[in-house]
Amino acid sequence: MMEKIISLCKRRGFVYPNSEIYGGFSGFWNYGHYGSILKENIKNLWKQRFVFDREDMFLTDTSIVSSPMVLESSGHISNFGNEIFKIQIGTGEETTTSHLRAETAQGIFTDFKNVVDTHHPKLPFGVAQIGKAFRNEISPRDFIFRSREFEQMEVEYFVREKDWEKYFEMWRGSMLKFLAEVGIKEVKEEELSPEDRAHYSKRTIDFLFDYPFGNRGEVCGLAYRTDFDLKNHKLDYLDEESGERMVPHVIEPSFGVDRSFLAVLCSAYTEDELGGEPRTYLKLPKNIVPVRAAVFPLLKNKPELVNKAREVYAMLKKNPPVGGPNIEFDDNGNIGKRYRRQDEIGTPHCITIDFDTLEDDTVTVRDRDTGEQERVKIGELIAKLKS
Ligand code: GAP
Repeated sequence: MMEKIISLCKRRGFVYPNSEIYGGFSGFWNYGHYGSILKENIKNLWKQRFVFDREDMFLTDTSIVSSPMVLESSGHISNFGNEIFKIQIGTGEETTTSHLRAETAQGIFTDFKNVVDTHHPKLPFGVAQIGKAFRNEISPRDFIFRSREFEQMEVEYFVREKDWEKYFEMWRGSMLKFLAEVGIKEVKEEELSPEDRAHYSKRTIDFLFDYPFGNRGEVCGLAYRTDFDLKNHKLDYLDEESGERMVPHVIEPSFGVDRSFLAVLCSAYTEDELGGEPRTYLKLPKNIVPVRAAVFPLLKNKPELVNKAREVYAMLKKNPPVGGPNIEFDDNGNIGKRYRRQDEIGTPHCITIDFDTLEDDTVTVRDRDTGEQERVKIGELIAKLKS
Protein backbone atom coordinates (compact mmCIF):
# COMPACT_ATOMS: atom_id res chain seq x y z
CA MET A 1 0.00 0.00 0.00
CA MET A 2 2.77 2.45 0.95
CA GLU A 3 4.63 1.60 -2.27
CA LYS A 4 1.45 2.38 -4.24
CA ILE A 5 1.03 5.74 -2.49
CA ILE A 6 4.69 6.68 -3.04
CA SER A 7 4.36 5.71 -6.70
CA LEU A 8 1.18 7.79 -7.11
CA CYS A 9 2.91 10.75 -5.42
CA LYS A 10 5.74 10.58 -7.94
CA ARG A 11 3.59 9.82 -11.01
CA ARG A 12 1.09 12.60 -10.36
CA GLY A 13 3.47 15.26 -9.06
CA PHE A 14 2.72 15.25 -5.33
CA VAL A 15 6.16 14.39 -3.92
CA TYR A 16 9.51 13.75 -5.62
CA PRO A 17 12.72 12.46 -4.04
CA ASN A 18 15.10 15.36 -3.43
CA SER A 19 18.13 15.66 -5.77
CA GLU A 20 16.83 12.64 -7.68
CA ILE A 21 19.07 13.20 -10.71
CA TYR A 22 22.06 12.76 -8.34
CA GLY A 23 20.67 9.60 -6.75
CA GLY A 24 18.53 11.29 -4.09
CA PHE A 25 19.46 12.76 -0.72
CA SER A 26 18.28 10.93 2.39
CA GLY A 27 15.88 12.81 4.63
CA PHE A 28 14.87 15.51 2.13
CA TRP A 29 11.87 15.66 -0.23
CA ASN A 30 10.40 17.99 -2.85
CA TYR A 31 6.72 18.74 -3.31
CA GLY A 32 5.46 18.90 -6.91
CA HIS A 33 2.58 20.93 -8.36
CA TYR A 34 -0.37 19.02 -6.86
CA GLY A 35 1.53 18.26 -3.65
CA SER A 36 2.32 21.94 -3.15
CA ILE A 37 -1.33 22.91 -3.64
CA LEU A 38 -2.60 20.18 -1.29
CA LYS A 39 -0.03 21.16 1.35
CA GLU A 40 -0.93 24.85 0.98
CA ASN A 41 -4.64 24.02 1.33
CA ILE A 42 -4.01 22.05 4.54
CA LYS A 43 -1.98 24.95 5.94
CA ASN A 44 -4.61 27.51 4.95
CA LEU A 45 -7.39 25.50 6.57
CA TRP A 46 -5.28 25.20 9.74
CA LYS A 47 -4.72 28.98 9.72
CA GLN A 48 -8.44 29.52 9.26
CA ARG A 49 -9.43 27.22 12.14
CA PHE A 50 -6.59 27.98 14.57
CA VAL A 51 -6.22 31.73 13.96
CA PHE A 52 -8.89 33.53 11.91
CA ASP A 53 -11.95 31.72 13.30
CA ARG A 54 -10.88 32.79 16.80
CA GLU A 55 -10.52 36.15 18.58
CA ASP A 56 -7.53 35.39 20.76
CA MET A 57 -4.84 34.44 18.25
CA PHE A 58 -1.97 36.23 16.51
CA LEU A 59 0.03 35.01 13.54
CA THR A 60 3.79 35.20 13.21
CA ASP A 61 6.56 34.19 10.82
CA THR A 62 9.92 34.12 12.57
CA SER A 63 13.29 33.25 11.10
CA ILE A 64 14.76 29.74 10.99
CA VAL A 65 18.10 30.88 12.38
CA SER A 66 18.44 32.82 15.60
CA SER A 67 21.08 33.85 18.10
CA PRO A 68 22.85 30.75 19.48
CA MET A 69 21.59 31.87 22.92
CA VAL A 70 18.01 30.93 21.97
CA LEU A 71 18.46 27.16 21.65
CA GLU A 72 20.90 27.14 24.55
CA SER A 73 18.35 28.84 26.85
CA SER A 74 15.51 26.61 25.60
CA GLY A 75 17.41 23.47 26.58
CA HIS A 76 17.54 22.15 23.00
CA ILE A 77 21.34 22.01 22.84
CA SER A 78 21.74 20.12 26.11
CA ASN A 79 18.74 17.82 25.51
CA PHE A 80 18.98 17.06 21.78
CA GLY A 81 22.74 17.64 21.04
CA ASN A 82 23.41 16.00 17.68
CA GLU A 83 19.96 16.26 16.41
CA ILE A 84 20.40 20.01 16.02
CA PHE A 85 22.01 21.17 12.74
CA LYS A 86 24.98 23.43 13.39
CA ILE A 87 25.70 26.26 10.95
CA GLN A 88 28.40 28.85 10.54
CA ILE A 89 27.26 32.46 10.07
CA GLY A 90 29.58 34.96 8.48
CA THR A 91 32.85 34.54 6.58
CA GLY A 92 36.55 34.72 7.30
CA GLU A 93 37.58 34.88 10.93
CA GLU A 94 34.40 36.64 12.08
CA THR A 95 32.10 33.62 12.25
CA THR A 96 29.42 32.65 14.73
CA THR A 97 28.14 29.13 15.25
CA SER A 98 24.36 28.92 15.38
CA HIS A 99 21.70 26.30 14.59
CA LEU A 100 18.74 25.60 12.36
CA ARG A 101 15.64 25.61 14.55
CA ALA A 102 14.28 22.20 15.58
CA GLU A 103 10.79 23.57 16.32
CA THR A 104 9.02 26.76 15.27
CA ALA A 105 7.98 27.36 18.89
CA GLN A 106 11.12 29.20 20.04
CA GLY A 107 10.55 32.14 17.66
CA ILE A 108 7.15 32.60 19.30
CA PHE A 109 8.62 32.61 22.81
CA THR A 110 11.45 34.99 21.99
CA ASP A 111 8.97 37.44 20.39
CA PHE A 112 6.57 37.20 23.33
CA LYS A 113 7.48 40.67 24.64
CA ASN A 114 7.05 42.20 21.15
CA VAL A 115 3.57 40.69 20.73
CA VAL A 116 2.51 41.88 24.19
CA ASP A 117 3.91 45.40 23.60
CA THR A 118 2.26 45.66 20.17
CA HIS A 119 -1.17 44.17 20.84
CA HIS A 120 -1.61 44.34 24.66
CA PRO A 121 -3.49 41.04 24.69
CA LYS A 122 -5.26 39.78 27.81
CA LEU A 123 -4.74 36.20 28.98
CA PRO A 124 -5.49 33.73 27.58
CA PHE A 125 -4.12 34.39 24.10
CA GLY A 126 -1.98 32.55 21.60
CA VAL A 127 0.51 32.96 18.80
CA ALA A 128 0.51 30.66 15.77
CA GLN A 129 3.23 29.92 13.29
CA ILE A 130 3.73 27.71 10.24
CA GLY A 131 7.31 27.12 9.18
CA LYS A 132 10.22 24.83 8.52
CA ALA A 133 12.08 22.93 11.21
CA PHE A 134 15.21 20.80 10.91
CA ARG A 135 16.39 17.75 12.80
CA ASN A 136 19.48 15.78 11.99
CA GLU A 137 17.57 12.47 12.38
CA ILE A 138 19.89 9.47 12.64
CA SER A 139 17.68 7.38 10.39
CA PRO A 140 15.23 9.34 8.24
CA ARG A 141 12.65 6.86 6.98
CA ASP A 142 9.15 6.00 5.87
CA PHE A 143 8.88 8.44 2.98
CA ILE A 144 8.07 11.95 4.27
CA PHE A 145 7.18 10.66 7.77
CA ARG A 146 10.63 11.16 9.30
CA SER A 147 12.77 13.63 7.41
CA ARG A 148 15.53 16.06 8.26
CA GLU A 149 13.72 19.11 6.89
CA PHE A 150 9.99 19.34 7.58
CA GLU A 151 7.27 21.83 8.35
CA GLN A 152 5.29 22.46 11.52
CA MET A 153 2.04 24.27 12.35
CA GLU A 154 2.28 25.32 15.98
CA VAL A 155 0.34 27.33 18.52
CA GLU A 156 1.75 28.56 21.81
CA TYR A 157 -1.26 29.44 23.96
CA PHE A 158 -0.55 31.52 27.06
CA VAL A 159 -2.75 30.94 30.10
CA ARG A 160 -2.83 31.43 33.88
CA GLU A 161 -1.42 28.36 35.62
CA LYS A 162 -4.73 27.55 37.33
CA ASP A 163 -6.47 27.31 33.92
CA TRP A 164 -4.06 25.00 32.12
CA GLU A 165 -6.26 21.87 32.27
CA LYS A 166 -9.30 23.68 30.89
CA TYR A 167 -7.37 25.00 27.86
CA PHE A 168 -5.54 21.71 27.34
CA GLU A 169 -8.98 20.11 26.86
CA MET A 170 -10.13 22.96 24.61
CA TRP A 171 -7.16 22.49 22.23
CA ARG A 172 -7.51 18.73 22.34
CA GLY A 173 -11.05 19.15 20.96
CA SER A 174 -9.91 21.61 18.27
CA MET A 175 -7.14 19.26 17.15
CA LEU A 176 -9.48 16.27 16.83
CA LYS A 177 -11.94 18.41 14.88
CA PHE A 178 -9.24 19.57 12.47
CA LEU A 179 -7.94 16.03 11.91
CA ALA A 180 -11.48 14.93 11.04
CA GLU A 181 -12.02 17.94 8.76
CA VAL A 182 -8.97 17.11 6.61
CA GLY A 183 -10.19 13.52 6.42
CA ILE A 184 -7.57 11.80 8.63
CA LYS A 185 -9.26 8.60 9.74
CA GLU A 186 -9.25 6.72 13.04
CA VAL A 187 -6.85 8.85 15.03
CA LYS A 188 -5.78 7.30 18.35
CA GLU A 189 -4.71 9.36 21.35
CA GLU A 190 -1.80 8.30 23.53
CA GLU A 191 -0.93 9.80 26.90
CA LEU A 192 2.87 9.91 27.19
CA SER A 193 4.60 8.71 30.35
CA PRO A 194 7.00 11.17 32.06
CA GLU A 195 10.04 9.42 30.60
CA ASP A 196 8.68 9.70 27.04
CA ARG A 197 7.84 13.40 27.27
CA ALA A 198 10.10 16.19 25.99
CA HIS A 199 12.19 17.99 28.63
CA TYR A 200 9.79 20.97 28.69
CA SER A 201 6.50 19.10 29.10
CA LYS A 202 4.46 18.13 32.15
CA ARG A 203 1.73 16.47 30.10
CA THR A 204 1.70 15.34 26.46
CA ILE A 205 -0.87 13.57 24.30
CA ASP A 206 0.25 12.22 20.93
CA PHE A 207 -2.33 11.85 18.17
CA LEU A 208 -1.47 8.70 16.24
CA PHE A 209 -2.38 7.45 12.79
CA ASP A 210 -1.91 3.95 11.38
CA TYR A 211 0.44 4.79 8.50
CA PRO A 212 0.63 1.88 6.04
CA PHE A 213 4.34 1.26 6.61
CA GLY A 214 3.43 -0.99 9.49
CA ASN A 215 3.49 1.11 12.62
CA ARG A 216 1.41 3.72 14.30
CA GLY A 217 2.96 7.17 14.01
CA GLU A 218 2.47 10.60 15.56
CA VAL A 219 0.70 13.14 13.31
CA CYS A 220 0.57 15.85 15.98
CA GLY A 221 0.94 16.36 19.69
CA LEU A 222 -0.49 18.46 22.50
CA ALA A 223 1.82 19.52 25.30
CA TYR A 224 1.55 21.45 28.55
CA ARG A 225 4.90 23.27 28.50
CA THR A 226 4.27 25.00 31.85
CA ASP A 227 6.23 28.26 32.24
CA PHE A 228 9.45 26.47 31.23
CA ASP A 229 10.24 28.45 28.07
CA LEU A 230 9.25 31.98 29.14
CA LYS A 231 11.13 31.49 32.42
CA ASN A 232 14.26 30.27 30.62
CA HIS A 233 14.15 33.29 28.32
CA LYS A 234 13.56 35.51 31.41
CA LEU A 235 10.25 36.83 30.09
CA ASP A 236 7.17 37.77 32.04
CA TYR A 237 3.81 39.53 31.73
CA LEU A 238 1.98 42.26 33.66
CA ASP A 239 -1.34 40.74 34.67
CA GLU A 240 -3.90 43.54 34.69
CA GLU A 241 -6.28 41.45 36.81
CA SER A 242 -3.91 41.24 39.77
CA GLY A 243 -1.66 44.18 38.86
CA GLU A 244 1.36 41.86 39.31
CA ARG A 245 4.07 40.55 37.04
CA MET A 246 3.75 36.81 36.42
CA VAL A 247 4.94 34.14 33.99
CA PRO A 248 2.13 32.67 31.87
CA HIS A 249 1.93 28.91 31.32
CA VAL A 250 1.77 27.42 27.85
CA ILE A 251 -0.43 24.89 26.07
CA GLU A 252 1.03 23.81 22.75
CA PRO A 253 -0.89 22.07 19.94
CA SER A 254 1.78 21.14 17.36
CA PHE A 255 1.15 19.57 13.94
CA GLY A 256 3.67 18.22 11.46
CA VAL A 257 2.58 19.49 8.04
CA ASP A 258 4.24 16.64 6.15
CA ARG A 259 2.85 13.97 8.48
CA SER A 260 -0.62 15.53 8.19
CA PHE A 261 -0.22 15.57 4.40
CA LEU A 262 0.80 11.89 4.39
CA ALA A 263 -2.06 10.86 6.71
CA VAL A 264 -4.50 12.80 4.50
CA LEU A 265 -3.21 10.96 1.41
CA CYS A 266 -3.27 7.54 3.09
CA SER A 267 -6.82 8.13 4.37
CA ALA A 268 -8.01 9.30 0.94
CA TYR A 269 -6.31 6.58 -1.12
CA THR A 270 -9.04 4.28 -2.47
CA GLU A 271 -9.09 1.39 -4.91
CA ASP A 272 -12.37 0.18 -6.42
CA GLU A 273 -13.88 -1.02 -9.67
CA LEU A 274 -15.67 1.27 -12.07
CA GLY A 275 -17.32 0.05 -15.27
CA GLY A 276 -15.67 -3.35 -14.76
CA GLU A 277 -12.18 -1.80 -14.57
CA PRO A 278 -10.01 -1.39 -11.46
CA ARG A 279 -9.28 2.23 -10.59
CA THR A 280 -7.47 4.29 -7.98
CA TYR A 281 -8.74 7.57 -6.67
CA LEU A 282 -8.16 10.02 -3.82
CA LYS A 283 -11.30 10.56 -1.79
CA LEU A 284 -10.07 13.92 -0.49
CA PRO A 285 -12.38 16.40 1.29
CA LYS A 286 -13.51 19.06 -1.20
CA ASN A 287 -12.03 21.94 0.81
CA ILE A 288 -8.43 20.75 0.40
CA VAL A 289 -8.35 19.12 -3.05
CA PRO A 290 -5.54 20.30 -5.38
CA VAL A 291 -7.98 20.73 -8.30
CA ARG A 292 -11.54 21.75 -7.47
CA ALA A 293 -12.99 20.92 -10.92
CA ALA A 294 -11.69 19.94 -14.36
CA VAL A 295 -13.25 21.05 -17.64
CA PHE A 296 -12.95 18.98 -20.82
CA PRO A 297 -14.07 19.50 -24.41
CA LEU A 298 -15.22 16.06 -25.63
CA LEU A 299 -12.99 16.35 -28.69
CA LYS A 300 -9.82 18.36 -29.05
CA ASN A 301 -10.16 18.94 -32.78
CA LYS A 302 -13.65 20.55 -32.76
CA PRO A 303 -13.13 24.32 -32.25
CA GLU A 304 -16.80 24.86 -31.33
CA LEU A 305 -16.43 22.40 -28.40
CA VAL A 306 -13.03 23.77 -27.36
CA ASN A 307 -14.32 27.38 -27.41
CA LYS A 308 -17.38 26.52 -25.33
CA ALA A 309 -15.24 24.52 -22.87
CA ARG A 310 -12.86 27.50 -22.56
CA GLU A 311 -15.88 29.73 -21.77
CA VAL A 312 -17.04 27.41 -18.98
CA TYR A 313 -13.45 27.13 -17.71
CA ALA A 314 -13.09 30.93 -17.59
CA MET A 315 -16.42 31.27 -15.78
CA LEU A 316 -15.37 28.75 -13.08
CA LYS A 317 -11.94 30.32 -12.67
CA LYS A 318 -13.64 33.66 -12.04
CA ASN A 319 -16.13 32.18 -9.55
CA PRO A 320 -14.34 29.24 -7.97
CA PRO A 321 -16.54 26.93 -5.92
CA VAL A 322 -15.86 26.75 -2.16
CA GLY A 323 -12.55 25.05 -1.40
CA GLY A 324 -9.41 25.06 -3.51
CA PRO A 325 -9.64 27.77 -6.20
CA ASN A 326 -7.75 25.70 -8.74
CA ILE A 327 -9.70 24.77 -11.90
CA GLU A 328 -8.06 22.73 -14.65
CA PHE A 329 -8.60 22.56 -18.42
CA ASP A 330 -7.70 19.26 -20.10
CA ASP A 331 -8.12 18.18 -23.70
CA ASN A 332 -5.41 15.50 -23.72
CA GLY A 333 -6.22 11.88 -24.62
CA ASN A 334 -9.59 10.18 -24.52
CA ILE A 335 -12.21 11.12 -21.93
CA GLY A 336 -11.72 7.89 -19.96
CA LYS A 337 -8.04 8.63 -19.47
CA ARG A 338 -8.79 12.21 -18.46
CA TYR A 339 -11.24 10.96 -15.81
CA ARG A 340 -8.65 8.52 -14.42
CA ARG A 341 -6.03 11.23 -14.24
CA GLN A 342 -8.37 13.52 -12.27
CA ASP A 343 -9.49 10.61 -10.05
CA GLU A 344 -5.88 10.00 -9.06
CA ILE A 345 -5.42 13.58 -7.88
CA GLY A 346 -8.81 13.66 -6.15
CA THR A 347 -10.73 16.15 -8.34
CA PRO A 348 -14.35 15.99 -7.09
CA HIS A 349 -16.01 16.91 -10.41
CA CYS A 350 -15.17 16.67 -14.10
CA ILE A 351 -17.24 18.74 -16.52
CA THR A 352 -17.50 17.69 -20.15
CA ILE A 353 -18.66 19.90 -22.99
CA ASP A 354 -20.14 17.85 -25.85
CA PHE A 355 -22.34 18.42 -28.91
CA ASP A 356 -25.52 18.58 -26.79
CA THR A 357 -23.98 21.53 -24.89
CA LEU A 358 -24.08 23.57 -28.11
CA GLU A 359 -27.82 22.83 -28.45
CA ASP A 360 -29.17 23.10 -24.90
CA ASP A 361 -26.43 24.78 -22.80
CA THR A 362 -26.07 21.75 -20.51
CA VAL A 363 -22.83 19.97 -19.57
CA THR A 364 -22.03 16.56 -18.12
CA VAL A 365 -20.90 16.64 -14.50
CA ARG A 366 -19.17 13.46 -13.35
CA ASP A 367 -18.85 12.66 -9.65
CA ARG A 368 -15.41 11.37 -8.55
CA ASP A 369 -16.65 8.93 -5.91
CA THR A 370 -19.52 7.26 -7.76
CA GLY A 371 -18.46 7.86 -11.37
CA GLU A 372 -22.08 8.87 -12.01
CA GLN A 373 -22.79 11.56 -14.57
CA GLU A 374 -25.63 14.02 -14.78
CA ARG A 375 -26.52 16.85 -17.11
CA VAL A 376 -26.54 20.29 -15.55
CA LYS A 377 -27.41 23.69 -17.04
CA ILE A 378 -24.31 25.90 -17.30
CA GLY A 379 -26.19 28.57 -15.32
CA GLU A 380 -26.62 26.11 -12.44
CA LEU A 381 -23.08 24.72 -12.55
CA ILE A 382 -21.52 26.81 -9.76
CA ALA A 383 -24.36 25.97 -7.36
CA LYS A 384 -24.05 22.28 -8.30
CA LEU A 385 -20.29 22.22 -7.59
CA LYS A 386 -20.84 23.91 -4.24
CA SER A 387 -23.39 21.30 -3.13
N1 GAP B 1 7.15 22.24 19.46
C1 GAP B 1 6.84 20.92 19.83
C2 GAP B 1 7.49 19.93 18.98
O1 GAP B 1 8.32 20.25 18.15
P1 GAP B 1 7.47 17.38 18.41
O2 GAP B 1 6.53 16.29 18.85
O3 GAP B 1 8.93 17.13 18.55
O4 GAP B 1 7.04 18.68 19.22
C3 GAP B 1 5.87 18.25 16.53
O5 GAP B 1 7.16 17.78 16.88
C4 GAP B 1 5.43 17.59 15.23
O6 GAP B 1 6.42 17.76 14.23
C5 GAP B 1 5.26 16.07 15.36
O7 GAP B 1 3.97 15.74 15.85
C6 GAP B 1 5.45 15.62 13.92
O8 GAP B 1 4.23 15.70 13.21
C7 GAP B 1 6.42 16.65 13.36
N2 GAP B 1 7.79 16.07 13.27
C8 GAP B 1 8.69 15.93 14.26
N3 GAP B 1 9.83 15.38 13.79
C9 GAP B 1 9.64 15.15 12.47
C10 GAP B 1 10.45 14.60 11.41
N4 GAP B 1 11.70 14.20 11.63
N5 GAP B 1 9.93 14.52 10.16
C11 GAP B 1 8.68 14.96 9.92
N6 GAP B 1 7.87 15.49 10.88
C12 GAP B 1 8.34 15.59 12.13
